[in-house]
Amino acid sequence: MRFSSIVAVAASFLTFGSVSANKDKSYCPSQGGISHAQRVQLFKQFTDELFSATNNGSEVAAAFAKYVSPSLIEHTASSNSFGSDVGFLSALFPTVNVAIIAGIEGCFKSTVGGHICTVHYKATPKSAQSFITNTTVISDYYRYDGTCIVEHWDSTMTANAQTTNPNFPG
Ligand SMILES: *[C@@H]1O[C@H](CO)[C@@H](O)[C@H](O)[C@H]1NC(C)=O
Ligand SMILES: *[C@@H]1O[C@H](CO)[C@@H](O)[C@H](O)[C@H]1NC(C)=O
Repeated sequence: MRFSSIVAVAASFLTFGSVSANKDKSYCPSQGGISHAQRVQLFKQFTDELFSATNNGSEVAAAFAKYVSPSLIEHTASSNSFGSDVGFLSALFPTVNVAIIAGIEGCFKSTVGGHICTVHYKATPKSAQSFITNTTVISDYYRYDGTCIVEHWDSTMTANAQTTNPNFPG
């Protein structure tokens, strides 16, 4: 259950060598270099909290305050800054259900040396009043500076009548 894992994360006091934080402390600006495994853990904590906004829109602002730089460089088509992301996602997430597809979530080092974490997930509208018109798949890419998310890209596709691939969305 996602909810129980969120509660477990919130309840635990996380220590990464010199990097430590409880649920009220921010990982931005970066608290220093961390290992691959530590970044994977931080990223999972971020996405768990972000996606819990499907039940509580306020979790978007809480997740961004903890894991994302206020001077985020944002490349998505739907918003252009930390502030507009929080506004947009706080309104969007409560109108959808979210499922990470096939465990596609992890971190890697880019060809130019950046620390990138990615998650590929499906959003389905809860009702006809949803912000999205149909099943939508999103691949999010986040660049980290140490412990802090500093840049974001995404790729988004919403199903329509021409979407015939039986393997969509995975
Ligand atoms: C919704 O999330 C916010 C931010 O984490 C939290 O302060 C608030 O207690 C939550 N509300 C409920 C009803 O769980
Ligand atoms: C939603 O997507 C499905 C394919 O997954 C398609 O058959 C259907 O026509 C779409 N509905 C709308 C309203 O776009």
